[in-house]
Amino acid sequence: MPCTVVVCGFFGDTGKGKIISYLALKDRVSVAVRAGVGPNAGHTVVYGGKTYKLRMLPSAFVYEGCRLLIGPGVLINPDVLLKEVEVTKSEGRVGVDPLCAIIEPKHIEADRGGHLASKIRTTGSGTGPCNADRALRRAKVARDIPELEKFLTDVPLEVNRAIDDGENVLIEGTQGTFLSLYHGTYPYCTSKDVTASAACSDVGVGPKKVDDVILVLKAFTTRVGAGPLPNEISWEEAERRGWAEVASVTGRRRRAAPFNFDLAKRAVMLNSATQAAVTKIDVLFPECKGVKSYDKLSDGAKSFIERIEDEIGIPVTLIGTGPEVWEVVDRRD
Ligand code: IMP
Ligand code: MG
Repeated sequence: MPCTVVVCGFFGDTGKGKIISYLALKDRVSVAVRAGVGPNAGHTVVYGGKTYKLRMLPSAFVYEGCRLLIGPGVLINPDVLLKEVEVTKSEGRVGVDPLCAIIEPKHIEADRGGHLASKIRTTGSGTGPCNADRALRRAKVARDIPELEKFLTDVPLEVNRAIDDGENVLIEGTQGTFLSLYHGTYPYCTSKDVTASAACSDVGVGPKKVDDVILVLKAFTTRVGAGPLPNEISWEEAERRGWAEVASVTGRRRRAAPFNFDLAKRAVMLNSATQAAVTKIDVLFPECKGVKSYDKLSDGAKSFIERIEDEIGIPVTLIGTGPEVWEVVDRRD
């Protein structure tokens, strides 16, 4: 802390929701701000016996002392946002920037047809067509929508003030490094950059104000939609290994492959990551389920983590050992 950016080093779905919700509770984060594309993301949080799938609100909502903001770079689907505010009972602490662009039904319709659906296999949430309208300067923005009026606030101002006051601030990236429009597997990618620099820009924080960039990596690699996935295994093989996952937004099967050291290393470079989190270690090493201290991990799990550190050149400070918020090994200090 105080200002930490969390981004994914693969193709999304690495467990940012879990890591961010843990950090929010553990470090008593006072401001969490959502960066990234928009409601094409699905961040899963398992807390207090409930599973939440968030597409708009920061995953830090689990810590009740945390202000929940959405930066101007992010696209908002008002229906999705209002529902999440209700489900998380967080109305009094949510703030939206007046310049967030708005996804309308026509964007969703356009995203569910043509090459976006058949070739790119997008999430169909309307984000690409909305970003296109935004670039053409004809998208609506949050200040045009009466239902959002009570949430409007100057998000960059709030975030920068919190950082200047030395409070703990979390910037929540979405998607994954290799889905970036600039650094990903073009044209099989999302509709904007999603690296740490873009996440900062989304929320109005300059590069000198960031203290840490946490790169979230999963113990195996997955990808939904079209595009290259080196060393991909079959769905049957993924089921056999326990790697078979379905996407939280679209319900599609996630394609799977072993942990990719080359991509992880490149993601460290592209995001100037200072620490890594490795999630789902319990899927590769079931004996590690629920373990909370490094000493208690099995030798196999420890050598896997050490190999990652050797290859990517930054410390693995957080290790996910199960889906629940507190199932984590925290090696920070
Ligand atoms: P779009 O972002 O909906 O335009 O989809 C573009 C590509 O990014 C497709 O391959 C999607 O499956 C993928 N994608 C977008 N958001 C996510 C995400 O949050 N997790 C995983 N894949 C995503
Ligand atoms: Mg996801």
